[in-house]
Amino acid sequence: MELYVISGVTGMTGNELVRQLLKKGHRIIGFDNFFASSVDTIKDVIDNPYFDFYEYDINNPEHMEKIRKEVIDKKAGCERLIYINCAAVVHTEHFYHIDRTFETNVLGMKAFLDQATEVGADVYINCSTSEVYSMQSWAEDGVKESDFITMSNAEHSQRTSYATGKLLTEFFMKDAVDNKKIKGCSIRFANVYSKNELYPKHIIPHILFSLKENGCVELLENSRKNRRTFLHNEDSCSAVIALCETESALDGTVYNVATDEEITIIDLVSLCAEKLGTKAEIIFNGYRESDPERRVLNTEKIRTRTNWKPSVTLEEGIMQCVAEMNR
Ligand SMILES: NC(=O)c1ccc[n+]([C@@H]2O[C@H](COP(=O)([O-])OP(=O)(O)OC[C@H]3O[C@@H](n4cnc5c(N)ncnc54)[C@H](O)[C@@H]3O)[C@@H](O)[C@H]2O)c1
Repeated sequence: MELYVISGVTGMTGNELVRQLLKKGHRIIGFDNFFASSVDTIKDVIDNPYFDFYEYDINNPEHMEKIRKEVIDKKAGCERLIYINCAAVVHTEHFYHIDRTFETNVLGMKAFLDQATEVGADVYINCSTSEVYSMQSWAEDGVKESDFITMSNAEHSQRTSYATGKLLTEFFMKDAVDNKKIKGCSIRFANVYSKNELYPKHIIPHILFSLKENGCVELLENSRKNRRTFLHNEDSCSAVIALCETESALDGTVYNVATDEEITIIDLVSLCAEKLGTKAEIIFNGYRESDPERRVLNTEKIRTRTNWKPSVTLEEGIMQCVAEMNR
């Protein structure tokens, strides 16, 4: 049995990790401050004796001290101790709130990493983001982890503060591994979604809720051209587990995690409308600076170093979301 300590555990990747890790017979300590999620996402597992959940804030030193003590109490007899940092201010709307984003995504990540090394954890998984590719988010075979980055900056949009903070966390991760404090890696996810996503401003729930309520959806002008890939949370979760289980991959470096299934936002609206059985009227309004038209990631590194590949197609994922909405 291994002990996992997961921040942001009621978020999309975190809640699925709980289910998958419990199935594998592991023990979990998880916390979340419900900034962008609710306890509903873990209601099926919250009473499991191998899962301890706390409503805690990663930025609150007293809460983090309680987690540290809990880890010390529970780690005896566990084969490995693994920290996974999913807590983050994620959604586009919040990217412009620089202080909050920096506090949670950078200072919170670093404090959690320091705790992991201090308690002698074996592994730390740092969830970064494909937003770090900023204005150079695509290439013929997808952008690679080692590609140089063309960053939009404060001259263009405050939005990039999110990506800049996440990029800095990748350096903390690499430094900790290089200095033999811990094993681990960073993951650059692209556009995670899930059937129990609460946040209505993320593109998939926004489209589904708008079409269902009004038969029409308001999109930014950027969506006339934009294309994206979307990663189901079962696949973001399986990537984390695949990396945790592959010792040789935990070298402090970065892994892209995404699907190859690129779709225009306009076609995404049509797909959602088809699955809802409704019409797909679109109103274009507003414009977002520094929003790349495409984001295509090359995932060869994780696919060759681990056995990970995505398993949920976009069509299947949208059908799950629709089924959940109609429950
Ligand atoms: N969702 C995406 O499209 C996406 C894309 C790239 C990277 N990521 C990264 O993956 C990780 C997991 O994100 P997710 O997709 O599960 O998103 P999510 O928003 O569903 O989960 C993040 C969780 O962190 C929690 N949180 C926020 N501030 C906190 C705080 N101060 N203390 C404790 N918990 C806090 C939120 O309540 C939420 O449950 C994050 O690091 C995120 O930056 C996500």
